[in-house]
Amino acid sequence: MGLFGALRLPREILFGSGQRRALGAVAAKSGRRALVCTDERFAATPSFAEMMADLRASGIEALVHDQVLPDVPSDTVITCVEAARPFAPDMVIGIGGGSCLDMAKCAALLLTHGGVLTDYYGEFKVPGAVLPIIAVPTTAGTGSEVTPVAVISDPVRTLKVGISSPHLIATAAICDPDLTLTCPPGLTAIAGADALTHAIEAFTAVRRAGSATLPQQHVFIGKSALTDHYALLAVRLLGRSLETAVKDGGNADARADVMLAAMAAGCAFGTAGTAAAHAIQYPVGALTHTAHGLGVACVLPYVMAYNRSSSLAEMAEIGTALGLADGNVEKRAQGAIDTVRRLFAAIGIAPTLAKLGLAEDKLDWTAEQAISIDRLIKNNPRPFDIEGMKTLLRAAYNGDMAGAAA
Ligand SMILES: NC(=O)c1ccc[n+]([C@@H]2O[C@H](COP(=O)([O-])OP(=O)(O)OC[C@H]3O[C@@H](n4cnc5c(N)ncnc54)[C@H](O)[C@@H]3O)[C@@H](O)[C@H]2O)c1
Ligand SMILES: [Fe+2]
Repeated sequence: MGLFGALRLPREILFGSGQRRALGAVAAKSGRRALVCTDERFAATPSFAEMMADLRASGIEALVHDQVLPDVPSDTVITCVEAARPFAPDMVIGIGGGSCLDMAKCAALLLTHGGVLTDYYGEFKVPGAVLPIIAVPTTAGTGSEVTPVAVISDPVRTLKVGISSPHLIATAAICDPDLTLTCPPGLTAIAGADALTHAIEAFTAVRRAGSATLPQQHVFIGKSALTDHYALLAVRLLGRSLETAVKDGGNADARADVMLAAMAAGCAFGTAGTAAAHAIQYPVGALTHTAHGLGVACVLPYVMAYNRSSSLAEMAEIGTALGLADGNVEKRAQGAIDTVRRLFAAIGIAPTLAKLGLAEDKLDWTAEQAISIDRLIKNNPRPFDIEGMKTLLRAAYNGDMAGAAA
């Protein structure tokens, strides 16, 4: 298969300690009126006050919506958009975790094109450009600052829903690792484990022939030369620094590594897509009400074991990125899986679906739901049938790594 690459990214990505101070200058390129989406926690911080003062000093009037809730319940988007419409913003700025960034994307979408969120569920449903979005993450995990996705929870649906469109990619991402210094260990671990899952699932995603139509017809197209580059960068940085960031949250170097990794993983999966671990998390999250990152990370080692036979070379490369030196490809591939397992155990990720709180009698339902999420399942390097998915979930429930590889 010939060399092929595709990548869709923000126009401007800024990374580094203190970059939050560029917000006013960056926003001034997009107009004079900004809707700012954040949550009550961040709105009460001195950093937020400084950023709002910077906007004012740059001649920008801001309307602040500081009521964003985790997982973005769909009715909260309506409330935000109704309050913002008379203000007629030129841009939407999201500052916070993935939820605040996804709220900013949804608000920009509805303020531009009207209608209701359900009109846009799925892929490529956004009809055109939306208001410029500036994303300023305060967690290091989702990669939402660079991805074409907004994830929301809709009370009418059992599973969370996604709106995926290149039009939802932020115009600018401002990543300042200083903003993550306040993340408690649990949040750091869960968000960082989500990022590692993004990187590994993007790097081991199916590789398709690079036809001219592929990136025009699909948001998530599988791995390519360009997404691989970002995925491996993310694996390397997380391998060396995630545990330190969780255990020593004041370590600025480790915080910077993890935030750069989360952004890089977003650059990778935003075009490559994710795969089975994310598909399984949709029903698991709905049943256990556990955080997204915890669910994907819990099942990732089992998914890696399932995929090992069809992605041996990729698994070995992941092993190299994690610092393993063994020249034998088989051993490095297995070492990658073992290292991810060890890292997740060290930062408190539940080691089995049983420990995560999934009821045993829901395993079959979980398998049926997961396998029906076609856009993610078809991106997995090793195909699934329902029996294969049931076997994998049973193994992940029991902590049976050998069973997952069967
Ligand atoms: N759009 C995407 O590409 C994408 C990708 C993966 C996940 N997601 C979604 O993102 C959401 C999860 O985002 P998240 O993990 O960033 O968490 P979050 O945004 O849901 O926030 C979780 C909690 O962490 C707090 N928090 C955020 N930053 C903090 C900081 N610096 N210090 C202390 N507390 C802080 C928040 O106030 C909130 O209470 C989920 O809805 C998930 O489905 C989106
Ligand atoms: Fe994720």
